[in-house]
Order: sequence, then C-alpha cells, then structure tokens
Amino acid sequence: MIVPVELGAHSYTIVVERGALAGVGARLRALAVGSRVALMSAASIIRFHGKTVADSLGEAGFNVTTVDLPEGEAAKTLAVAERCWDALLEAGLDRTSTVVALGGGAVGDVAGFVAGTYMRGVNFVQCPTTVLAQVDASSGGKTAINHPRGKNMIGVFHQPRLVLIDTITLATLPERDFRSGLAEVVKHGIVLDAAYFEDLETSTAPLLAREETTLERIIGGSCHLKARVVEQDEREAALRAVLNYGHTIGHALEAAGGFTRWTHGEAVSLGIVAEARLAERRGLATGATADRQERLLDRLGLPVRLSGVDADAVVAAIRHDKKARDGQVPFVLAPAIGAFRLVHDVTDADVRAVLATLGA
Ligand SMILES: NC(=O)c1ccc[n+]([C@@H]2O[C@H](COP(=O)([O-])OP(=O)(O)OC[C@H]3O[C@@H](n4cnc5c(N)ncnc54)[C@H](O)[C@@H]3O)[C@@H](O)[C@H]2O)c1
Ligand SMILES: [Zn+2]
Repeated sequence: MIVPVELGAHSYTIVVERGALAGVGARLRALAVGSRVALMSAASIIRFHGKTVADSLGEAGFNVTTVDLPEGEAAKTLAVAERCWDALLEAGLDRTSTVVALGGGAVGDVAGFVAGTYMRGVNFVQCPTTVLAQVDASSGGKTAINHPRGKNMIGVFHQPRLVLIDTITLATLPERDFRSGLAEVVKHGIVLDAAYFEDLETSTAPLLAREETTLERIIGGSCHLKARVVEQDEREAALRAVLNYGHTIGHALEAAGGFTRWTHGEAVSLGIVAEARLAERRGLATGATADRQERLLDRLGLPVRLSGVDADAVVAAIRHDKKARDGQVPFVLAPAIGAFRLVHDVTDADVRAVLATLGA
C-alpha cells in the first residue's frame, strides 16, 4: 500500500509493504540524494533487520556509516545526539546526505532530530519497526530528545523524504510492544473513522496473530488517517490536536507511574477509556460509545482498569501538560465513534470522577 502525504515542497510517500526494507536502496536512489548515508539503529533491531537495509543501500551504491544508538528511551538525549553529529562529521556527510532511522519511535525521534539539525537539515528516511512507530511516530515530522525536566521538550519539525514500513519487522517485536502500539491504531479509529474502527472490531483475532494481509490493511489504514490530519495541520496549530485523544490523561498516568509502570500505549489505552467516560459524564456521548472503546482495547490485550493510582498525582500531571494554554488543558473527546470535539472546561472533579470509574 502506498500512502501519499501531500505537504507541498515537503511531500513524501509512506510505503507499507512486506519486504519493503530490501528495496530501501533503490527507493533512496530514486530520490536523487547524495552518496553518503548514516544508518542509525539500536543493537536489538540491527541484529534482525540491519543487514537487509545495509545490503540494499550498498547494492544501490551508497556509502553507509552505521551509528549505534542505545536501546529505547535512553537514545533520546543530547549526549547521544552530539555523538551522532560527531559521527556524521567524521564520515563526511554533507547537505545532500541522508540519515536513515531503523527502529522504534525512540530511534526515529533522535535520528530525526539529528537529521533536522545537522547542517540545518539533511535528508531523512524512516524505517519504523514497531507498531507505534509505523502508525504514529514515523510520519508527521515531529522529532525530539528528552530534557531532564520533561519528555520530548527539545526538538524540531523535520519531515522525512520517505517512510518505508516493512511488516516483516513486526515478527520480531515482543508481544507487549506489539499490543501497546495498537492503542494508537484504536485511537485513530475512534476519532477519525467509524468504518476503520469496525474493521478493528471484526479483525481482532487475525490482527493479534499478526496475519500479513490484516497487518498491511490496518497499519496502512492508520497511516492514511494520520496523513490526512498532518496534511491539514503540519505544525500542530489546531486539527492535529485530535491525535492527542486518550493522551491528556494517558500522559498524566505515564508520569504518575514514573514512566515505568505502563508502556506509552498501555497508558494511552487507559487514557482512552478515561476520556471516553469523560465524554459520557459530560453528556457528550452515550455509555454505549464508551463501552465499545473499552471492549475493543480489552480484546486487544490492553489495560482498561486502574488500581493503586494516586488521583492527585494524575491531576497535577495534567496541569503540567505541554499542551496547556494559560493554565487550561484542552481535551479531545469523542461524541461518537468516528467523531471528535475539543472541550476546554474539564475540571479536576471531572478527572477524579472518571479515574474512580476505572477503579482508581
Ligand atoms: N515523533 C512522534 O510523532 C512520536 C509519536 C509517538 C511516540 N513517539 C516516541 O516514540 C517512542 C516510543 O516508541 P516505541 O514504542 O516504538 O518504543 P522504542 O523505540 O523504545 O522501542 C521499544 C523496544 O523495542 C525494540 N525494537 C524495536 N523494533 C523492534 C523489532 N522489530 N523487533 C525487536 N525489537 C524491536 C527497541 O530496540 C526497544 O528496545 C517514545 O520516545 C515516544 O516519545 C514519537
Ligand atoms: Zn501516543
């Protein structure tokens, strides 16, 4: 499946295809970029998929330097970015060169940040290898490293020239990471497309079995939905906030859980259920609409109940939300499956009440 992302001079395509990584060299050559490439990845991914990418780039005539990154979130630091800049200079990458990110959202975020800042921005290609990175982090152009005072605080917008999604890579993804990424897939269905949500409801079993045609359809469908949003709001001025569904409470739960209790996707799953109940509590949506969201997440093996959560910590974390404007945090709520509305006057009491309905 080919998903075009139309952003004027920044347009690119997302390719979702079994075996796509073996064609990265030819696709990059078609973009007429310079001969030097930095392949950035982490050991756990290189081990399985690095050779396919390096061979393909080499066969297409590229001069490849591999830059090893730490695993997961540990890659998203200024020290690692600095090490990458050093490696790129050392290898002689110039303004026509390309950074290729092979990995999950963490690799993509730091590699994108390096690509967006090195010599004021060089070509960037995303080869995402987790569900989360494939359906969410790899497209849209947001890049970031973390600051001791907050996640993703330092970054630039830098769109990739190409996103290559090879569904083969998901075969090696640990089960918990696989399911976590599905929370973003469900999110896209809830706020953007009722038919897509229904497809998820009927495809739960083949999806969890990672059946090939289902993976390509669901992941490609999710990329398509996100692309349509990004096209209308490249810099997150307004509409792109819709992608934040489940994330206002989700991020707060992540913070309250010390970023170790739940994966991002698990926290988003809980955030979706809480925000679905918020819409119900505010009289915006029926209980049945919230039930449907909760049921699908539960069937996908994602958490939908809370225990041992400090509601005060969650409320305090919401106040620190990066999206807060003048102290008010806007909530994206879903009045029905396939629809959304921004609500600006959610109170702490509302949040406490819905956390209680989840068992907190
Ligand atoms: N830029 C954006 O728009 C955006 C959007 C959402 C999330 N993010 C960021 O994404 C990050 C989370 O990404 P993630 O969930 O992909 O986690 P991750 O990148 O930390 O990867 C999870 C683990 O899986 C391993 N791994 C990755 N692919 C694998 C594969 N195919 N087989 C075996 N192991 C594999 C990784 O090495 C890592 O240890 C966060 O830092 C978050 O802030 C960015
Ligand atoms: Zn998310």
